[in-house]
Amino acid sequence: MFRTNNEIKGVGCGHYRTNATYEILKEQNMSNHKILIAYFSKTGEQYGVGNITEGNTAIIAKIIADKTGGDLFEIKPVNDNYPKGYTELTRYSKVEKQQNARPEIVGHIDDFDKYDTIFIGYPIWWGDKPMPVYTFLDSYDFSGKTILPFATHEGSGFMGTQGMDKTGAKVLRGLGIYGHVAQNSHAQAEQQVTAWINDLGY
Ligand SMILES: Cc1cc2nc3c(=O)[nH]c(=O)nc-3n(C[C@H](O)[C@H](O)[C@H](O)COP(=O)(O)O)c2cc1C
Repeated sequence: MFRTNNEIKGVGCGHYRTNATYEILKEQNMSNHKILIAYFSKTGEQYGVGNITEGNTAIIAKIIADKTGGDLFEIKPVNDNYPKGYTELTRYSKVEKQQNARPEIVGHIDDFDKYDTIFIGYPIWWGDKPMPVYTFLDSYDFSGKTILPFATHEGSGFMGTQGMDKTGAKVLRGLGIYGHVAQNSHAQAEQQVTAWINDLGY
């Protein structure tokens, strides 16, 4: 259904470091960067993976947190009316996108200023970001910050969603990864995340 030719694949291999080197780099990062990992993700019935209790994007977000020591923030709508069934969810989210909605989200990061690096993760929905991610982007001042986008999808790749130019942030190359890989092949997902963040010097 979502397979197209313009898939953005995960970054290539070839930059592996030993665990010891990695640990040192991680510690340096933790002192040099203040990292936030904000993500939106859904449980319930999902394309290609059945009924899931942890969302595909959430799994990637947690791998990133583990590798970087960053803080996690889940982007959650205050009124979570998203259907748990996949087909119903596609219908509901299509209307939300057509309306260019900005669903109110839970919580506010009061000390947002302290972060210099923000990973922003989401599933691709209808070739776009889910609307609560736009609410999140509208809620904070990103100028002077670095954004690293990551998205899970089932074949379409980022679909240009990683731009985020309007935020005024410096946006680095993102990671697009198959949702079913995140869900079912943890080692492979971890390898792709590690290659990506190491490549960008994080
Ligand atoms: C409403 C909806 C729309 C989707 N649209 C796309 C799409 O345009 N392209 C694509 O490759 N996958 C699409 N998918 C698949 C999801 O991007 C994929 O399953 C993702 O990994 C789900 O992540 P999550 O478990 O973190 O919510 C869609 C899924 C849903 C529920």
